[in-house]
Amino acid sequence: MIYAVIAAGGIGSRMNAEKPKQYIKVGNKPIIAHTVQKFADCDKFRKIIILCPEEWCSYTDELLREYCNDERITVIAGGSDRNETVMNSIKYIENTDGIDSSTVIVTHDAVRPFVTAEIINNHIADSEKYDAIGTVIPATDTIIESLDGATVTATPDRSKLYQCQTPQTFNALKLKELYENLSADKKAVLTDTCSIFTVSGKEVRLVRGDVQNIKITYPYDLKVAEVILKQ
Ligand code: CTP
Repeated sequence: MIYAVIAAGGIGSRMNAEKPKQYIKVGNKPIIAHTVQKFADCDKFRKIIILCPEEWCSYTDELLREYCNDERITVIAGGSDRNETVMNSIKYIENTDGIDSSTVIVTHDAVRPFVTAEIINNHIADSEKYDAIGTVIPATDTIIESLDGATVTATPDRSKLYQCQTPQTFNALKLKELYENLSADKKAVLTDTCSIFTVSGKEVRLVRGDVQNIKITYPYDLKVAEVILKQ
């Protein structure tokens, strides 16, 4: 069974807007509605689970009824950080349908509305073979390491560097087991869900993302999003 998990539990502090950035309109509808529609367009998902700040749940529910109106959509509360939000989706699936070794979650940032059907379908196809899948594009800028923030300590070979996007897809049972075995310190550091597999020596498969699959973070990104939408 495959579930779409839309992580919308953040408050968008870097956007500095009146409401969490996922509810800001781009074009004629809120960012979260664009994103959810991309998953609603795919008939492979048993449910589309949206996780948002608790106080925004009923608002989100009404909004998605208006813009997406898909019976598979369920809105529940997210967690204190993104990983906790993802874990809440697994708890929800456990309590409703139950999970087994074939339960897969395709997790995606609510604020990446330009994910493509091709990326989603590649994740679904690879989930039959891999327990963890990330989305990446090759790094375009040179990336340096600086341990003190003032001087360069290393210049890794750019041809081996990639920028991470979402979706990230997981075997739900495997992710739950690995996450529950992490110490509180490790949980605080491993903010990228795929890295929970990497540090445990488990393989993470890569799917090619798209340069337009941006994460809307700052006010500038809203301008870029308007341009992408008009294409
Ligand atoms: N997210 C989540 N649960 C959290 C924190 C974040 O589901 N407790 C989601 C966000 O809603 C967003 C995605 O994870 O869709 C990527 O996070 P980010 O862009 O950092 O969003 P915010 O945490 O909202 O932004 P900021 O860091 O500026 O506060």
